[in-house]
Amino acid sequence: MKCYLIKGQGIDQITLTERPVPEITHDCDVLVDVKACSLNYRDLMVAKGLYQSPGSQPPPFIALSDMAGVVRAVGDKVTDFKPGDRVLNSPLRHWPAGTLRSAWIRTFVGAMGVDGVLAEQIVYPADALVKVPDHLSFTEASTFTVAGLTAWAAVVTHGKAKPGEWVLLHGTGGVSIFAAQIAHAMGARTLMTTSSDDKAAVVKERYGVTATVNYRDSEWPQKVKEITNGAGVDVIVDVVGGETLARSLPICNYGARIAVIGVLGGGDVTLHIRDLLSHQVQLRGIYMESTEELRAFMRAVDYLKLTPVIDRIFPFEQAQEAYRLLESQKHIGKVVITIGSQG
Ligand SMILES: NC(=O)c1ccc[n+]([C@@H]2O[C@H](COP(=O)([O-])OP(=O)(O)OC[C@H]3O[C@@H](n4cnc5c(N)ncnc54)[C@H](OP(=O)(O)O)[C@@H]3O)[C@@H](O)[C@H]2O)c1
Repeated sequence: MKCYLIKGQGIDQITLTERPVPEITHDCDVLVDVKACSLNYRDLMVAKGLYQSPGSQPPPFIALSDMAGVVRAVGDKVTDFKPGDRVLNSPLRHWPAGTLRSAWIRTFVGAMGVDGVLAEQIVYPADALVKVPDHLSFTEASTFTVAGLTAWAAVVTHGKAKPGEWVLLHGTGGVSIFAAQIAHAMGARTLMTTSSDDKAAVVKERYGVTATVNYRDSEWPQKVKEITNGAGVDVIVDVVGGETLARSLPICNYGARIAVIGVLGGGDVTLHIRDLLSHQVQLRGIYMESTEELRAFMRAVDYLKLTPVIDRIFPFEQAQEAYRLLESQKHIGKVVITIGSQG
């Protein structure tokens, strides 16, 4: 079967290769024909050699963490799936439920020596797979694994957004656009920052974002506060960190919940504790979520008939171009690669 390997540092090192078809060696595993994969910011960091931790294995390994496909065969003890079922994967091969444990972190696929999913076929544990709701195509379904699940964790599981509340989102990338869609489904209002006035118009007109502010304007926090009539925001989906996080605290409403997700703007910051305690603000680190949460999310997706915002779909042969679009930050929402026929 064909797959893409991360072989070194740089997008041009993502290499199309032949490998043997993987075999089911555990009774609880499933062989999946992969139909579509989606990209996340993390995949850029992996490709550039910037996503490592002590003890992690070097390349080569198969790229990407998010996929949707069709079950081809199941192990003897698998009862939840049968050949022909449409499935998507949890990002970690093992995080069934509850709080993450250290032994499970190393099962996050598509980095640090752990094979990912940008392959014609993969073997995955049955208990880390979820059925795809009928209304979704494979390209759509492949976007929920990391970005969708993280947004769900930030807005619903831990953010507990309520109708009428203001949810602040940074940028127009995969996590933030999903978070806007989920916030709208909860009846909340959304305030999105972006560096692009063109993107601001698109997210308001096409995706129902309530208000936008340009984060290149140094006065953006004051503008956010004005839009909320001085009250401040109730939930923040923070994919930026750094100074953006520090400047977010004074624009929080009483009882606000901040989901700390990413470090696009930097990993170190000085926070003023008085801003946290005076407004009873909760700060919560988010690392996607468990398969149990992914199942809950997909039940909601099914009920709401939610479909993701996909910027562009690339054929398998153009995987490097997909990475380059993500790197350019010209996209809104998700970038997807398809594999083979989509029927
Ligand atoms: N902890 C977790 O579980 C988890 C899960 C998923 C992602 N993440 C992290 O979350 C971040 C976003 O991931 P993603 O996949 O959604 O990325 P993405 O799709 O590549 O989106 C990137 C977008 O972020 C915006 N942006 C960049 N720098 C910014 C800044 N300084 N301030 C505000 N917005 C900025 C830009 O939007 P505009 O073009 O509109 O300006 C850019 O297009 C990454 O750091 C990623 O590693 C963490």
